[in-house]
Formats: sequence, structure tokens, C-alpha cells
Amino acid sequence: MRDLITNSFLEIFSQEPILAFAPGRINLIGEHTDYQEGFVFPAAVSQGIWVGIQKNESNSANVHSLDFREDFVFDVNSFSPKKGHWANYVMGMVAQFKQAGYPARGFNMVFGGNIPVGSGLSSSAALSVSIATGLSGLFGFKIPKKSMALYAQKSEQLFEGLNCGIMDPYASAFGKENHALLLDCRSNSHEEVPINLGKYCLLLVNTKVKHKLADSAYNKRRAACEESVRILSETFPGIKTLRDLKEAQLEQVKNILPEELFPKAKHVILEDTRVHQAGESLKKGDLISFGKLMKASHESLKNEYEVSCEELDFLASESWTKEYVLGSRMMGGGFGGCTINLLDENQLPDFKKFISERYEEKFGIQPDFIEVTLSEGAHLLD
Ligand code: GLA
Repeated sequence: MRDLITNSFLEIFSQEPILAFAPGRINLIGEHTDYQEGFVFPAAVSQGIWVGIQKNESNSANVHSLDFREDFVFDVNSFSPKKGHWANYVMGMVAQFKQAGYPARGFNMVFGGNIPVGSGLSSSAALSVSIATGLSGLFGFKIPKKSMALYAQKSEQLFEGLNCGIMDPYASAFGKENHALLLDCRSNSHEEVPINLGKYCLLLVNTKVKHKLADSAYNKRRAACEESVRILSETFPGIKTLRDLKEAQLEQVKNILPEELFPKAKHVILEDTRVHQAGESLKKGDLISFGKLMKASHESLKNEYEVSCEELDFLASESWTKEYVLGSRMMGGGFGGCTINLLDENQLPDFKKFISERYEEKFGIQPDFIEVTLSEGAHLLD
């Protein structure tokens, strides 16, 4: 990939680029809790986005996307989003940098990657963070990783209209080899937890579907949580988000919230507990308990939070029938994308065959399998 970027850059711009990389992410557990200042447990993977970048002594940003085989040019001092266009991620980061007082000037850029789009591995966060890493390196801005993650989140919210949380860009920025990040989305700080899976491995199964309502449903779920907090704060003064409520308060919460809001709040409150339990289990090497938490998380996302879909439910429940699968659940925002599975490495061929046949028989789609290893976060390449 890096050779491809360098060669394309030389061909298009006749200059030597500097190179940056930012990875995609998985999430072990803790779904739809980040925007309620809760806890999540993501990790960076080896797949990601590479950016080649160089100054061009003008105010023009000349960008080439290898994956879309498309050019986009904009003036770094005056630009506006183009709905649904990949260039929003570039303009969005430049806008964030400028707003924070980092004066980006003109640049040439080529980018490309190996994250299947729509798989739920957060290619968009990887793109934003790789652009941030590249721009920061190019102009010598020395921007802290936490700021990069916050700018990437803001950029996605403003330029793409997705009211997302901090998890994806944070994991892309801070990932660490063989570790997952137990991330507190209130303080935006994390603990690096070493992950030793022994003979087990993590495998993603891509449904290859993304249902249309995904983005609007995401924003609606977030708004529902905020509405619950507004109602609950009359009884629990001082709560800022659902993160401030504990399992022991669920009965009371149930009596206060309208019927349609309660299950959503319940998911967020209990999912937070599951993240802590998962942290304890993985620190002890208790993969069986962790697998059970994955299953409970899926069931809650399906039944309480209602962000799953038929394809994800099918994959998860088929996987649970295999004794060598310790855990399986939908991963990320939902309505498509991948399941994440913890299974015996020696059984990979059997599992892939079984799932391929079952999924194809049911939906007429051949699923993709993505093997993941926990890897380093964003960095400049020599
Ligand atoms: C998407 C968002 C994240 C997070 C997850 C659900 O990936 O970008 O911020 O909310 O969904 O856990």
C-alpha cells in the first residue's frame, strides 16, 4: 500500500510525499455508550488508510483518492461540504485545524486504504485521523492525539451529519499492538489492557449489507438518550448523562421513563457495566466469561436498543451454536456491517465453511471474513 501511494503521488505531483497511516478499529464490547460518556473497549487493527502529502506553495488542496479514482480540488481558505462526498473528510479536518488556530496552507494529497467500506471498521475515522496525522507532520503542528480524535469526531458531525461519539477516531489515534483500550468517554482517557487470547482468535464476519436508515437511526438513538437524561434529571439532580446511573437504579428509572425510552436507557446503563466486567475478565484471561458478555451485549443491542438487523442476528445466533465459538455479537453502530467473533483458531476453516453456507442459503450473499490483529495507532511513516 505504501509503495502504491508513493508511486501514485510521484506520478501525479512529481514530488516525494511524506506518508501517514491510521488504522481502522474493532470494538470488543461497549456499543452505543460513547456518546453518553460511558465506557468502550476498542482496539486498532492492521488495516487502515495511508496518506501521501506534500506542500505545494499555494492555497489549493489537490486531493486524489485511489479507491474512488477521483480528484478533488478546493481552496484551503474557502470551501464548503458536498453532501456524501469523500472530500468532506479532507475539508472537515482542514476546517477543524483552522478553527483551532493551526494555519494549514495548500497541499497535494493521495490516499488509499484496505478497509472494506461499510464493514463497520470505521474507515471514515481512519481517513480523518490519517489526514490529521499527515497535515500535522507536514506543517510541523505537533497536534496531540487526543485533539486529533476530537477534531475527527467534530468533522464527522459537522460535515457528514452523523452525531457520532469519540470511540472510532480515538482508537485509530491511540491503538497499541496486542492491547485494547478501556476508554472512558467522559475524561477521554484510557487504560491499555493487554489481550492474550491463547489459542483463540478474533474474526469479523461482514454481512455486506448496510441498511439505509443506519445514520438517521443512530442520531435518533442518541436523541432518545438525551431525552431520557432530561426527564431523569428531575429525580436524579446532577446527572449529566446515562453514565451517571447504575444498575441498582434501574427499577426507579423504569418507573420514571416513558415505555419507549426505558429499554434504550437500560441498554446504555447495563452495557457500561458489561464493559467493566469484560475488562476484569480479560485481565484474568477468562475468555469464557468475556464470550458470555459479548452475547449479552448482542441481545441487548437487538432487543433493547434495536440497532441490529436480520443479517446480524442470524450470523450471531448461528455462531452461538458452535461450541468452539466463545462469543459473537454485532459490532459498531448496527443495521449492517460486521459481527465480531471469538473462536478457537484451529476451527477457523470449519467456522468459515459453516457460516458461508448458512448465510448464503438464507440471504443469497457470500459473507466476507476479516481476520484482525490488535495493532498500533496512527503514525507518520519514515
Ligand atoms: C459508530 C460511532 C461510534 C459509536 C458506535 C456504536 O461506530 O461512530 O461513535 O457510537 O457507532 O458503539
